[in-house]
Amino acid sequence: MNSKLVLTAAYLVVLAVVLAIYQDPSRINFHAPPPIPGSRDDLHTAQIVNVTAAVGPESLAVDPRGRGPYAGVADGRILRWEGDGLGWSEFAVTSSHREECVRVFAPEMEHICGRPLGLKFHKKTGNLYIADAYFGLRVVGPNGGLAAPLLTHVHGQPLLFTNDIDIDEDKDLIYFTDSSTTFQRRQFFSSAMSGDKTGRLLKYNISSKEVTVLLKDLAFANGVALSKDRSFVLVAETTNSRILKLWLHGPNVGNVDVFAKLPGYPDNIRRNQNGEFWVALHSKKGAISNLIVSKSWTGNILLKLPLSVKQLHYIMGGKAHATAIKLSEDGNVLDVLEDCEGKRLRFISEVEENKGKLWIGSVLMPFIGIYNLH
Ligand SMILES: *[C@@H]1O[C@H](CO)[C@@H](O)[C@H](O)[C@H]1NC(C)=O
Repeated sequence: MNSKLVLTAAYLVVLAVVLAIYQDPSRINFHAPPPIPGSRDDLHTAQIVNVTAAVGPESLAVDPRGRGPYAGVADGRILRWEGDGLGWSEFAVTSSHREECVRVFAPEMEHICGRPLGLKFHKKTGNLYIADAYFGLRVVGPNGGLAAPLLTHVHGQPLLFTNDIDIDEDKDLIYFTDSSTTFQRRQFFSSAMSGDKTGRLLKYNISSKEVTVLLKDLAFANGVALSKDRSFVLVAETTNSRILKLWLHGPNVGNVDVFAKLPGYPDNIRRNQNGEFWVALHSKKGAISNLIVSKSWTGNILLKLPLSVKQLHYIMGGKAHATAIKLSEDGNVLDVLEDCEGKRLRFISEVEENKGKLWIGSVLMPFIGIYNLH
């Protein structure tokens, strides 16, 4: 068959779908993502804790004294949950120029106000290490305040989209991701839809301040987690719907394996006490998003249309819903929890297991979820 004809036909199909979505997304139901075998539709039972006057608690962390969780929100602040009846207090900021950082959600201000994404406490020092999407790596002491810069450039180039972080406390090493060397956080749709593969996994030595690029050419490098014995590190490749495993020690050192293929777009990865991993899916994979990320020309067409972020979300992820997946140390699926209807939780970004509960963050919602495991 004439390949030009096929291309034109495909283009028209995409255009028809986009126009239909543009007019009335609720009319389209063929876009519901397929169910995951063995999944439990139970996340709607999660308790909601509103983040007062803020949205987008992307990453959550508990400090070495058990306080928290701490959450980085869209206006650039890092808040701490003080408990029922006490609410949230302001713990830290990553920018000293906050005079105009007054709106809860203003992506056009993120490069001034900061956008703390990955949060991780150093268990020995109590310092909080922050992957700020715009300011690279920052650190703040146990009393909070203004975080100090640690790393803003790599080999002379500014970090454009620092995303997630994990720490090897014994060796004082930080593992972190830079999602793209082309796009900034507020352009994440452009990154996902244009087929950008400039993401990196990096290592930072706290004492020598040396930085090493461990992996490059990743498709939207996102969540990072070390294994319990630190023999490997995981990195989520969001637009490839998979998690890679880089061996750090042992006979396979330096090798990269595909650790898990996922039915959606992974955000952060967090290890629990048993050495298992919780992965939050931003959304599940649907037929249309699959086409877009595999054929970057369709994404580039969509990006030229006057679509809102909400409409782009719908095209990429279908009906908003939450999916959390627990993986074993070998990458096998141990548990899948969903809120299939998106009754409570949507666009989740992180699942942190702490004392029999899952603390669930979201890059867009104005609350965190707390789910009882038993
Ligand atoms: C980190 O840097 C220090 C100081 O240069 C060095 O002694 C140490 O071996 C480095 N750590 C690792 C794991 O490379």
